Amino acid sequence: MYKRAHLILLVCAPLATGCLHDFNDAAINGEAPPPTDDLDGFPIELDDGGTTTDVCAQNTAKVTDLLERACHVCHNGPGAPNGFGFIMDFNMLKTSRTFNSAYKDVDGLNFRYLTPGHPEHSFIYVRAASYPPTMPPPQPPADISPYYPKTTDLSVLNYWITSCTFPDPLAGTTMDAGTSG
Ligand code: HEC
Repeated sequence: MYKRAHLILLVCAPLATGCLHDFNDAAINGEAPPPTDDLDGFPIELDDGGTTTDVCAQNTAKVTDLLERACHVCHNGPGAPNGFGFIMDFNMLKTSRTFNSAYKDVDGLNFRYLTPGHPEHSFIYVRAASYPPTMPPPQPPADISPYYPKTTDLSVLNYWITSCTFPDPLAGTTMDAGTSG
């Protein structure tokens, strides 16, 4: 009896791995058909109770909340620090450059506040993502209780700049155009 069990194991073991292998290959190659009701994508819940299948719609809503919560109190309107008073105007963010010449793009121009596709060249991201935090400032005025973006906020902001801020109004004049010829 013992011997027989042993034999069965020996015969089946290679078969079993063979079967598993086939199964995994099918999954990896996408041969298994997706469930039919998922073809339009899973609905994503929005904070206002609605749903969307557009990842960027939800992402942009989250970024809007974040900038309103963490930055708007100081970076809104004339008289804002360093003339940067348009945090909620996404088009202005994309077309305006800082006067801070310590941050240069490869095209030799100062950083834009938002460069579609490039968080690491977007001044709002660079300042918000630095650690220890520099934005909001570490010592804010006494009447402001600042919200410091958390790692999850920063990954939402990073995804937004990378994937959801196109079209680029300066396409053709940006460092992308400069580097690709
Ligand atoms: C309590 C007020 C306050 C809040 C809130 C705040 N900032 Fe600032 N920010 C400042 C001040 C003051 C400066 C100028 C001094 C400096 O550069 O550190 C500044 C400068 C900046 C600059 C540089 C502007 C330039 O062109 O020189 C950027 C970019 C910036 N902030 C982004 C942000 C972002 C993004 C947030 C939200 C995550 C934020 N700030 C929240 C006060 C604030």
